[in-house]
Amino acid sequence: MSGRPFIVAIDGPAGAGKSTVSRLLARRLSFALVDTGAIYRCVALQATAEGVALDDDARLGPLLGRLHIVFRMVEGENHTFLDGRDVSEDIRKPAVSMAASAVSSRPVVRDGLLQLQRRLALEAPQGAILEGRDIGTVVFPDADAKFFLEASPVVRARRRFEELFQRGTESTLDEVLTEQTKRDHDDASRAVAPLKAADDALRVDSTALPLSDVVRGLEATIRDRMAQPR
Ligand code: DC
Repeated sequence: MSGRPFIVAIDGPAGAGKSTVSRLLARRLSFALVDTGAIYRCVALQATAEGVALDDDARLGPLLGRLHIVFRMVEGENHTFLDGRDVSEDIRKPAVSMAASAVSSRPVVRDGLLQLQRRLALEAPQGAILEGRDIGTVVFPDADAKFFLEASPVVRARRRFEELFQRGTESTLDEVLTEQTKRDHDDASRAVAPLKAADDALRVDSTALPLSDVVRGLEATIRDRMAQPR
């Protein structure tokens, strides 16, 4: 029997439904939720605010040590606080998405954030859901359950477009699709910890599935695994 919390890795490209699925799963299982994309977004937000270039490793490294990031549920939504300020809206802006993808290609940033991601998960009382790009491959290669969510590019862009619309951010479906294509390419082709499914991840394609069905399927698999000795 392992003494650590039950770790669930949910990886996949932008717009595959990771955030929604992870949030619902965390609530249904009473697990902590660690949105690792939000952590990279906070780095990008802070770097931009301090005028640090997104490839300036010498300044990005020290900046990481000063970041104080906390996740907290507010009315059923996972909110991100940076230095005590709720930045949940700011970090979802399209410019921050592109900047997050840029800083995430810097090895100094990826290495610097590893311990933080692990600590946030390991301090959870029962279990943690981590969503990102490299959770099953790098952050927790020994996760108790690993999933890789996928969907067609157009379906993913449409979901993201709807989300931005609901947040009041003006954009067109074409713009969202163009940015998504660039981000997918950059995230999958970078040298360090590129976006890819772990060999032992269960791949789930939600192109034609409502996300509620995805949640039910993943929950059943997780509960099954939790019932087995670890
Ligand atoms: O999941 P997201 O869209 O919030 O992530 C924003 C960016 O952060 C994404 O383009 C790639 C990067 N990222 C990463 O490289 N590794 C992770 N585990 C999570 C996100």
